[in-house]
Amino acid sequence: MKGKFIVIEGIDGCGKTTQIDEISKWLPTSGLMGGDSKLIKTREPGGSLLGKKLRNLILDNNKNNKPSSLAELLLYSADRAEHVSKIISPALEKEDWVISDRYADSTLAYQGYGRNINLEIIRSLESIVCQGEQPDLTIFLEISAEESILRRKNFIPDRIESEGINFLKKVNEGFKLIAKEKNWKVISATQNVNAITNEIKETLLKNFS
Ligand code: TMP
Repeated sequence: MKGKFIVIEGIDGCGKTTQIDEISKWLPTSGLMGGDSKLIKTREPGGSLLGKKLRNLILDNNKNNKPSSLAELLLYSADRAEHVSKIISPALEKEDWVISDRYADSTLAYQGYGRNINLEIIRSLESIVCQGEQPDLTIFLEISAEESILRRKNFIPDRIESEGINFLKKVNEGFKLIAKEKNWKVISATQNVNAITNEIKETLLKNFS
């Protein structure tokens, strides 16, 4: 028996981090996890020690440090390979549960649909990098690109967030296509925070009871 692997996806500003914090408080008390199982809350990029360093490199907003699209793809892939090897797989093997803020489909959406890197190249890289670990459940928090920009207007953007609305629209369209293809649970993230949390809880109860 392995633990469960839950992933939350969505464009910047959709509220993933807030929701993951809420769900992480509830899940260990929900009765869904076995008595000895722990919940590992993690994220990409930056879920492992090496990943934290990679995150700083990848999201550096200095224009002189902007990687090429291919280098960017490989940096996210390196982060994920390390994350799977050091955090995700060991946890699932111990029957712990993992909830991750983003995983491989973020690469398909951002580097594939956003940067126009050939999707087959991304998929074949993914088959190496993920080492067989696929989410048991992916939840997509859906907001429009316009709403995303509006919600982040008072924050200093990182390098990817600085790309602007057209990039974000392409990424969002990509996420919607992937969501349909992979039968994800799609939740409207324009509702209030509690309503979204409740919908996520219901989804987890339905999937894992
Ligand atoms: P975060 O702000 O959700 O932590 O993610 C950091 C940024 O990295 C976000 O703008 C999305 C982007 N990203 C990619 O472009 N490709 C990926 O594979 C991942 C995991 C994130």
